[in-house]
Amino acid sequence: MHESEDLPILRPTTENISLCAEAILRGEMVCIPTETVYGIAADVTNPEAIQRVFDVKNRPAENPLIVHISDFVQLDDVIGEWTKEADVLANRYWPGPLTLVVKKSDYIPGVVTGGLDTVAVRMPDHPVALELIEASGVPLAAPSANKFMGLSPTSADAIDSEIARQCFAILDGGTCRVGLESTVVDVSSGAPRILRPGGVSRGDIQAALGRPLATAPPERRASPGMYDRHYAPKARVILVPQVAEGEPGLVFGLPGPGQIPMPNDPALYGAMMYSALNQMDRPGVEVIYVQLPPEGSAWEAVMDRLQKASS
Ligand code: TXA
Ligand code: MG
Repeated sequence: MHESEDLPILRPTTENISLCAEAILRGEMVCIPTETVYGIAADVTNPEAIQRVFDVKNRPAENPLIVHISDFVQLDDVIGEWTKEADVLANRYWPGPLTLVVKKSDYIPGVVTGGLDTVAVRMPDHPVALELIEASGVPLAAPSANKFMGLSPTSADAIDSEIARQCFAILDGGTCRVGLESTVVDVSSGAPRILRPGGVSRGDIQAALGRPLATAPPERRASPGMYDRHYAPKARVILVPQVAEGEPGLVFGLPGPGQIPMPNDPALYGAMMYSALNQMDRPGVEVIYVQLPPEGSAWEAVMDRLQKASS
C-alpha cells in the first residue's frame, strides 16, 4: 500500500489539467473532484478505458456509470431522447448534484450503461471537473472513487491508494462541498422517479416539476446500483437513538472522547458524513455508532446512506 505522500496528487493548474486531458485521451483514468464526491474519470467513448474503471473498483458490469458533461451542446452526443421533465430539471439544477436518466444515443458504448438503453448524465458544479471535460473534448464517465460498496472520498487524500496507483493522477480540487452523491432521477419515460436520493432534495425536484415523485422500488433492472449494503466503512455501523458514553460514534450535541459532533442541519451533516465515518474507520474500531438523525424528508439522502452503511 502506498502512503498518502506517494499518491499522484496534482494541483489543478491549467498545465496539469491538460496533462490529465492527454492521459484521458490515451485511455488512462484520472481521479477528479466534483461538488459531490471524487470520481474516477475515463473517456466515455473508449470501451477499454471504461472497462478499467469497472476493474479498479471491483464493480459489477451491470452497474452503469454516470456520464459527465461540461456544457449543453455536449448533451446532444450523449442522449437519444430528451423529455420535458429532463429539460425542466437540467435547466434548473445544472451544473449541480443532479443526475438524469434518459434514453441513450449510439455514441455511448454499452459497457458504460451496463447494457441498458438509458444513460445517466450530469453536469458537475466544480470548475476543475468542468475544465478537464472541456480540455478532453469528450464526456467523462466517472463513478465515485471508492472500491465497490465502500465510502466515497470527499477529499483527494481520502482516495483509496490502490485506486490512486492505477490512475494517471488525482486532481486536487479541495473538499467536496456537497459530500454526498448526486440525486439520480429517471426521466426517461413515464412518471419521473428518484432512483437515488442525494445532493438535490426530493422537495426541490418536486417543486421544479410541480408534482410529487415516486421512489423507485428496488427492482434490479430499473436501478442496478441500488444494493442494500453500500457506502460502508470497514467497521460495522449501528444506528442508535443515543450513543453511549465511551463508545466511538457520530453524535448530536456535546461529544464524549472518541466521538465526533455532527451538525443538526441535513446539508451540513451530508457534507461531513463520509469524512467523519472515514476518520472513525481505523484498525481496532469494530463498531461505529451513529446517533439517528431527526425524522423528515430533508434528511432523506443522509438516512439513505446511513441505512446502507449499516445494512
Ligand atoms: O455524485 C455523483 O453522482 C458521483 C460523482 C463522481 O459524479 N458519481 C457517482 O457515481 O456517485 P456512481 O457510479 O458511484 O453511482 C452511479 C449511480 C448508480 O446508483 C447507478 O446504478 C446509477 O447511478 N445509474 C447510472 N446509470 C444508470 C441508468 N442508465 N439507469 C439507472 N441508474 C443508473
Ligand atoms: Mg458510488
